[in-house]
Amino acid sequence: MIKILALSGSSRRDSLNQKLLDRAVLGAREAGAEVTPIRLSDFALPIYDADWEAEHGVPEDAERLKALLAGHRGLLIATPEHNGGYTALLKNALDWMSRPNGFPSGKVAALISASPGLLGGVKSQLSLQIVLTKLGVHVIPDSFALPERRQRGDGGSPHRRGPDRDARQIRWIQSRAVGRVTSDDRHYLGVDAKFSPR
Ligand SMILES: Cc1cc2nc3c(=O)[nH]c(=O)nc-3n(C[C@H](O)[C@H](O)[C@H](O)COP(=O)(O)O)c2cc1C
Repeated sequence: MIKILALSGSSRRDSLNQKLLDRAVLGAREAGAEVTPIRLSDFALPIYDADWEAEHGVPEDAERLKALLAGHRGLLIATPEHNGGYTALLKNALDWMSRPNGFPSGKVAALISASPGLLGGVKSQLSLQIVLTKLGVHVIPDSFALPERRQRGDGGSPHRRGPDRDARQIRWIQSRAVGRVTSDDRHYLGVDAKFSPR
């Protein structure tokens, strides 16, 4: 069974992205994945600073986060948009996970986002995709962005839009993500020739 680590780039109490993530986790489980949801705010990570690292080493919680990731094949990330990019909370966690010997290899990620803006945070996905690719993560092309009008469910014809349709789409993306990472299609996965499905 494919194992997916699910996290959001927001620590806000009433976070839209956390709500979206919670829904997507249900979809991934329905599609057959074993999902571990985590909250980045449960990990005490100082803002990355090389001098701090030289003095104190990698924080215990960064090691804990990295070990968790190492035990999962897939990453499901709900990413809020801050000034056209993704959040400092998420970048800091990714930076620490790359220390000291690089990011865990052979990972596949699915990205989703929610924002009050018209584009649903899609720019945060684009910027995150660049960094994840640099870290050796294969980001699947299927993604999902939820703008505010669709969160209210008034984004168009009731037969075509609204929360039910969005929930179906999230489920669809998740089942594709699960299908892709459990397949033995090395050409598509492309990230680790020695990959064998967990
Ligand atoms: C510093 C800051 C910058 C933001 N920049 C954007 C932006 O560029 N595009 C956008 O759609 N929303 C932007 N927002 C609004 C966030 O998308 C909104 O607060 C969203 O609810 C955050 O995600 P969350 O609900 O999961 O915490 C910004 C919010 C903050 C605090």
